[in-house]
Amino acid sequence: MADLSTRYMGLKLKSPIIVASSDFTKSTGQIEKCRDYGAGAVVLKSIFQEEFTAESIRTELESGYPQYAESFDYVEQMIAHRGQEAYLELIREAKKRVDIPVIASINAYSSKGWAEYARHVEEAGADALELNTALLPASPYETSEEIEKRYVDIIKTVKKEVSLPVAMKIGPYFTSVFRIADRMYASGADALVLFNRFYQFDFDIDKISLTYGGFLSTPSEMSNTLRWMALLYGVADGDLAAATGIHSSEGVVKQLLAGATTVQVCSALYKNGLDHLKKMNEGLSDWMDKHGFTSVDAFRGRLSKEKAHYPDEIERLQFMKALLAEGERKGR
Ligand SMILES: Cc1cc2nc3c(=O)[nH]c(=O)nc-3n(C[C@H](O)[C@H](O)[C@H](O)COP(=O)(O)O)c2cc1C
Repeated sequence: MADLSTRYMGLKLKSPIIVASSDFTKSTGQIEKCRDYGAGAVVLKSIFQEEFTAESIRTELESGYPQYAESFDYVEQMIAHRGQEAYLELIREAKKRVDIPVIASINAYSSKGWAEYARHVEEAGADALELNTALLPASPYETSEEIEKRYVDIIKTVKKEVSLPVAMKIGPYFTSVFRIADRMYASGADALVLFNRFYQFDFDIDKISLTYGGFLSTPSEMSNTLRWMALLYGVADGDLAAATGIHSSEGVVKQLLAGATTVQVCSALYKNGLDHLKKMNEGLSDWMDKHGFTSVDAFRGRLSKEKAHYPDEIERLQFMKALLAEGERKGR
């Protein structure tokens, strides 16, 4: 095997392939399997901000038993506390059982009400924290600046509480990915995870109701991440983890060539089983041997904007422009 070791947010990983936050990382048994099949690190299944207030449970109780509404404070706190404790216990147990980095994950939509929990996550022994920040800018009254500020507030508030490395997992829907990336790193983020994949919104036209489609990603969804890795490598002020649509060792190689520090995989493991991790590591190692690379650093970012021969083409969005460029190259 070639040497696949790499550093991510200051942590030493045996492989750049990380198991993304998912059901594969919600129990110690599964986490041990991830380690056995060669995961460089695991991102635990997220604890959700709602679980800090158990808001949803309260709403349910209140609608069923409105006459007791005032007494639900205690129930709400008790349920929330139990969920938080169980998550800390998962971190402690995982740290006892595996020697790969364990990255905790909190799904947050605001900076209020839960930030001190990040300190408990650190005390429980997590090696790093990933903040899954999924904000849908659905209000016509909230400006882009206000939305960006919410992300900034989240990372700043958490960084005040902890000294462990923190990654921000963000979606692709920003007018300027560069600007938000800059602001995230300046606010203390040690890495960005690009990109989160949101539930696919859909309608069931027989039941005339809302449904969700495309539970798992496909390899064709990797392209947007690849573009932004290639654009941000060398410019970003921290590490970059590639996510969404990485299903094979070829996908891993491409993301590393674009400049990713690490890659996260999830859907590919649901489709092929956890042992697919082993194949991905072997495929990466074979490719490195074939091309004479003895370390991941030796080729990381080779096809990034910073190092590529045709940097303008990375920014090309329009089909016409690409056609004209192809014509020019062929001398037409
Ligand atoms: C069943 C399932 C559960 C997931 N749970 C979480 C989660 O708790 N927190 C999170 O940040 N992402 C979660 N994700 C998103 C994945 O971590 C990943 O970012 C996304 O699936 C895109 O990567 P992929 O194309 O390799 O699947 C989940 C995805 C799936 C399919």
